[in-house]
Amino acid sequence: MAKKTINDFRQMVDKGEKIVYLTAYDYLTAKMQEKAGVDMILVGDSLGMVCLGYDTTFPVTMDDMVRHCQAVRRGAPNTFIVGDMPYMSYQKSDEDAVANAGRLVKEALVDCIKLEGGGEMIASRISAIQQAGILVMGHIGLTPQFMGQIGGYRAQGRSAAAAMKLVNEAKAVEAAGAFSILVEGVPAAVGKVITERAGIPILGIGAGSYTHGQLLIYADMVGMYDNFTPKFVKKYANVGEILTNAFKEYTKEVRQGQFPNDDDHTYKMSVEEVKEFLALLDK
Ligand code: KIV
Repeated sequence: MAKKTINDFRQMVDKGEKIVYLTAYDYLTAKMQEKAGVDMILVGDSLGMVCLGYDTTFPVTMDDMVRHCQAVRRGAPNTFIVGDMPYMSYQKSDEDAVANAGRLVKEALVDCIKLEGGGEMIASRISAIQQAGILVMGHIGLTPQFMGQIGGYRAQGRSAAAAMKLVNEAKAVEAAGAFSILVEGVPAAVGKVITERAGIPILGIGAGSYTHGQLLIYADMVGMYDNFTPKFVKKYANVGEILTNAFKEYTKEVRQGQFPNDDDHTYKMSVEEVKEFLALLDK
């Protein structure tokens, strides 16, 4: 299948077709997701927790993002890939934001970048990046890079005033030139209003069923990341348990001498070559 473009996503929205969006961080997972027909892949800075074992996304660097985006691009050459801008890669200045967004496109061939936030500073960054010719996805609601200011990893927009603030942020991000917005961790009623009022595709993660598309962190939905599971995650598999059981079985078989099995898992030598080999050893 040909890689989807901004026009395909707009058409999907017009036709009421849902956009399917998942995170991936490595070659193998990206390859499986492309095979499964996922429309869009996010190489999220959540790789800090999922792949690198950090407690937050703060330590993730541009070099980390470039490396993982490159691997995902190799695994999914025909899928629209969104590269996440890590902490402090865009906050300082428009110039910094454009340079770092440019790295993700130039070095990892992503189709779009994503950045968190909805205030004035973010509008300026979105505008600068999109003027440089790069597609931008905004990200509002539960924005982990603003964890201190939003009071931790918790749902946003649960009071009328907070919900109104998010509706205004979505409008500001759209006006700044974002091609779409990811809305995270908000009540379904807020996700619905933002979607109905938007002129661009709205993707949701924990934002209810009304958004134009849905995102999940792949390691959550296949049961691989068990440190913490948000309420909005549905588990489609228990891969963590399957892998742990396989590792246990291997450990047992190696210790008991059951693996490798001489018939099935070893290279053979002809009887003549073995004889000659033994003769050589005796010389
Ligand atoms: O980094 C990420 O995977 C994200 C999602 C949690 C929305 O930004």
